[in-house]
Amino acid sequence: MEKLVIKGGTRLSGEVVIGGAKNAAVAILPATLLVDGICTISNLPYISDVKISCKILEELGAKVTWNSNNEVVIDSRNISSFKTPIDLTSKFRASYYLIGALLGRCRAAVVGLPGGCNLGARPVDQHIKGFEALGANVDILEGKINASAKKLVGTHIYLDKVSVGATINVMLASVLAEGTTIIENVAKEPHVVDLANFLNTMGADIRGAGTDTIKINGVEKLSGNTAYSVVPDQIEAGTFMLAAVATKGDILIKNCIPEHLDCLTAKIIEMGANVEIHDDSIRVWTDTTPNSANITTMPYPGFPTDLQPQIGVALSLSNGTSIINEGIWESRFQYTNELNKMGANIINQGKSAVFTGVDKLYGAPVEATDLRAGAALIIAGIVANGETSITNIYHIDRGYENIEDKFRKLGANIQRVIEEDIF
Ligand code: EPZ
Repeated sequence: MEKLVIKGGTRLSGEVVIGGAKNAAVAILPATLLVDGICTISNLPYISDVKISCKILEELGAKVTWNSNNEVVIDSRNISSFKTPIDLTSKFRASYYLIGALLGRCRAAVVGLPGGCNLGARPVDQHIKGFEALGANVDILEGKINASAKKLVGTHIYLDKVSVGATINVMLASVLAEGTTIIENVAKEPHVVDLANFLNTMGADIRGAGTDTIKINGVEKLSGNTAYSVVPDQIEAGTFMLAAVATKGDILIKNCIPEHLDCLTAKIIEMGANVEIHDDSIRVWTDTTPNSANITTMPYPGFPTDLQPQIGVALSLSNGTSIINEGIWESRFQYTNELNKMGANIINQGKSAVFTGVDKLYGAPVEATDLRAGAALIIAGIVANGETSITNIYHIDRGYENIEDKFRKLGANIQRVIEEDIF
């Protein structure tokens, strides 16, 4: 097993280039199954969720050619199956997008239940509600979701919860359906908009992505035969913005879309840091202890739950007491136990936590409990006095490309080492 070893006490400074958005890439790759043609997808993050997604596409009969670590050409003209390999779909969350894409292309899908970060129940009832509204039969049997439809007919769907996954999955199933589908109470995240832009580039007719209502006029086919570049990852960008705050550093975050981070930028300024916004970059710098602040995570454009652990590190070192209310996931505070091992003073109370700022964190052996928790622990290790080792870093590799290289270029003393098995 690998682990990250960090010698802390560093103030990060320099420039970092942000990669393509994981949560857009894992939606766009299955969406290529809807295209009866060839798609070139660039600015892909070279992360395990993307590699597994491409492996699954190949198992389904698509031809996948890697032009580089960050660009693939996908030829989905000869899809030969609608049954996905269960051992691969269980390795990440977004495998469930294969249901919507295969249903849309083949009118049938057999997909193993997804895996991904353990953040709570993570139900899929809204996905199923959307598929059934379009005319599909869906059942869950032996750990697989089976969906089939004689035909898919556009309809009016009102999602009971604002759900990124359900919004994306129903969009995928509607693109080639007969007639018009209107989906209300949808998620507005940048990756939802990016998927709609990709599908429209390939010949779909989707309007309203980024608002509360998306309208999809079904089309006969998506011809593809064009290229698309994935949107920059606002969560990776936010991770480095918060690293500058926690380490009292000075970082220029390049190749991002500042508007996607307006909520975080406002909060960072409230905490006393300086922010400079440019067309496609953001500079964050500070040399003072962060002010305390209160956070409630909510769907976009509210404060993103995927930056909650990272801001938790900065709040752990603030000059007062802060409260985080987690509005999306039942168990996104697992990382606080690890931060407390490093000297933080955090009290968990179910879906909220109270952070009493401390002067210092101290290096310790800690464990990544999920993807964003892992990123937060890297920031904590960099700012802490002493040495930190982080295990279970496979979580981090699911969502961040070359994370230790990027932090090392900013001045961190961080190494990836093989952890000897003791048994
Ligand atoms: C996506 O997960 C992201 N993952 C998550 O990012 C992110 O935390 C989440 O959206 C919220 O922004 C991907 O995009 C691959 P949801 P998703 O459906 O789609 C409830 C990361 O770190 N719900 O928006 O699974 C659900 O329980 C990951 O990159 C239902 O009740 O999240 C939750 O409380 C972690 N029924 C809320 O909605 C459903 O059918 C939002 O979930 C679906 C969801």
